[in-house]
Formats: sequence, C-alpha cells, structure tokens
Amino acid sequence: MNYTFPKDFIWGTATSAHQIEGNNTNSDWWEWEQSKKYFSQSSGVVSEREFPLEASGIACDSYNRYEEDFDLCVDLNNNAVRISIEWARIEPTQGNFDEKEILHYKKVLKAAKVRGLKTFVTLHHFTNPIWFSKIGGWTNVNAPSYFAKYAKKCAEEFYDLIDVFLTINEPQVYVYMSYFHGIWPPNKVSAVLSLWVQINLARANNRAYDDIKGSPSKKRVAPIIGIVKNIVWHEVSKSSKNPLDHVVAKFLNFIGSGFFFLLVKNKFDVIGLNYYFTNRIKNLKTKNPDDVTNDLGWWIYPKGLENVLLSLKKYGVDIFVTENGLADDKDEKRESFIRDMLESCVKAIDKGVNLKGYFHWSLLDNYEWHHGFWPCFGLVRVDRKTLKRSKRPSFKYYSEICKTGELKL
Ligand code: BGC
Repeated sequence: MNYTFPKDFIWGTATSAHQIEGNNTNSDWWEWEQSKKYFSQSSGVVSEREFPLEASGIACDSYNRYEEDFDLCVDLNNNAVRISIEWARIEPTQGNFDEKEILHYKKVLKAAKVRGLKTFVTLHHFTNPIWFSKIGGWTNVNAPSYFAKYAKKCAEEFYDLIDVFLTINEPQVYVYMSYFHGIWPPNKVSAVLSLWVQINLARANNRAYDDIKGSPSKKRVAPIIGIVKNIVWHEVSKSSKNPLDHVVAKFLNFIGSGFFFLLVKNKFDVIGLNYYFTNRIKNLKTKNPDDVTNDLGWWIYPKGLENVLLSLKKYGVDIFVTENGLADDKDEKRESFIRDMLESCVKAIDKGVNLKGYFHWSLLDNYEWHHGFWPCFGLVRVDRKTLKRSKRPSFKYYSEICKTGELKL
C-alpha cells in the first residue's frame, strides 16, 4: 500500500549551531569542554574519562560550509531546513550585538532561501553565552527578559528570512541534563532548581513570543512562532502485573509534556515535536524491550510517535516533527526507521492530527553533546579528519520520499 503526503507537506532535516558550526567559543558549552583533559592519540595523555568525551572543536565546520550543507538539502529534495542561531555569537557580551555575526546569519539564511528551502530557526538549542551563564544562567530571575531581548533582535534582523521561529529547543531535556542529572553545564543536581528553570524557560518562551510577535509585525504578516518539545512516550509494559504502572506512566507523560504546555499557555502557534523513544514501565521501573535499538541503545518504537502525535491533537495547532532520527553508523536501520516513523505520521494524520511536516535528525554526523562525535545521526557521514561529507545509502531513500511525497509501505 502506498500513501501520498499532502502536496504542501514540509520535508527537511534538522541541525543545531553548536553541534555543526565549530568554534563556538563564546558559549558555556565551549568553556566547559575546554576545562577537561582528553585522550590524545599523539601524546598519549589519558582523559579523565568524564563527560564530555570530546570537545566540539571545529565540529563539521558548517559555519563556513553551510552552502555545501544546503546543497545536500537540495539533493534530498527538501523544501525546508531546520537550523539554529547561536545566541553566544549574536550577543557575545551582555547587551552588545555583533553586527558581523548578524550579517553572517543573514548570509546563511539567504543561502537557504535561494535554494528554495523554508527556514525553521531555533533561537536556543542548549547552549548559552558565557556572560549569561556567569550571572546564573537560567536560574537568574531576569533570564527570560535577557533571552527575549536577543529573540527580539533576531526578529528585527531576520524577519524576512525566517519562516518559522522556534524559541527554545527541548526545555525539559535541557533541565534534566543540566540541573537534575548534572551531566551538562552548569552541572547542577537539584530538584528545586530543575523546577525553577523549567518555569523560567517557559517564561522566556512566553516573553519571546510576545516580543517577536510585536516587533516585526509592522513590516510583514505576523511571524509564526513555535516551541520545540521532546516527548518521551511512557506506556505500561505488556507483561506488567502491577496496576500502579498505569499511574506511573500517566504521571510521567504529564510531567514530560502536559505540565510544560500548562506553563507556556497559548504562547505558541505551532508545536515542534522531537520524538526519539518510548519507555515501557514495569514494576514502577523502565523496562524496554531490546529487540531493535540504535547505536546508543535507545529502543526504536515507531508506534510511540503516533501516540505522542495523538496526545498533542488537543492543542489545536499545526504540528511539525522537528526531530526524529537514530544513531546508526552502519546505516543498517535508518531506512526502515524512516519508513516506519513516517507510517506512524500517516496514521496520525488519518486520525485528524494537523501534522504539517517532518525533519529528520540529522543532515550530518555531528557533535552529540557529552558523547562527543561517535554517535552517528547523519544521513550524511562526516569524516572526522577531512570533514568530507558522503551520503549514506538511506540518503537516497529519504530523498525519494521527499521528492514524490509517496511512502511505499
Ligand atoms: C537534541 C539534539 C540531539 C538529539 C540526539 C535531541 O534531544 O535536540 O541536539 O543531538 O536529540 O540525541
């Protein structure tokens, strides 16, 4: 059976600035990465074996190679691209916007536009300027207004080059990794701060939403603004005999999704959904099957995407899958992964979900945060020595779907 996606369906790939640009030297992540010792093959210096496993360094050098990257998007028959703008570059010191970097991003966005790519642009993707982290980062009560100032500046400068503004990427993942689990900078482990930072990130989204809406509206139609949520679906294990597992799954689904939507009220025109995995609950613990996993051990469960999409229907706004992908260096599972995930999208559309687009994570192998470069999420392989891009076999598969809008099941 074949399914044809709507003609105006958005097809793209997603990346983020710190993960691909390279030399993001004014950011808190860069500072943190430099504070570690790493294993060096030439000198034999042993790393402290703590996170991050590697520094981002030149990453994929996309700061300079963005045209080549967008050419790959064209080869993929994409009609859109999701990238992010780096706050630490735009506002390297508090209140001072860097005209050179603004010009740079104008060039980047124009390069996407001339290739016929709609631009979905994230303003915050996990990294912060160093000045911001020095004054308490997201624990600072004024953080939302600092962020909103930067967001407003972006709206003023890039209003005609951005199709969809995405304020903050995965606020709750950021909180979990940086303030609960403490793996990412600023490496805090605190339930109280975790709650506070979630509130602050929601406030930041809400402030930025108003400021972006307010500023460029005189110049053109009101911009479209969205929030990007990672949602891990929780469901009860098939072999569970514990009735409390249902309560736990419901509770976790609320904490990881509904709760944050309460905080951002109606301050989003669209929802960006990042879906990677589902967790099954058994005896109050996560117990996932290990039948199909990616290189990071994440359980691959496409039906979970349909479940999450259906859970978002109630918000009554357009939804884009802004990230969905897998670490699969050998490219053995990517093709079936894409097919099965898109089948879930089709089912959700058939059930009335306003799903308008799909962005695969990722275009390129990139800096996978504390793991360094070893997990390979790219449709395109990036050689770590030469940075040469080469298409994985699944590239062709995805490009055919994007070209025809047809999914062969
Ligand atoms: C993030 C990406 C990350 C991807 C794979 C998402 O949570 O937005 O930055 O690379 O997952 O782990």
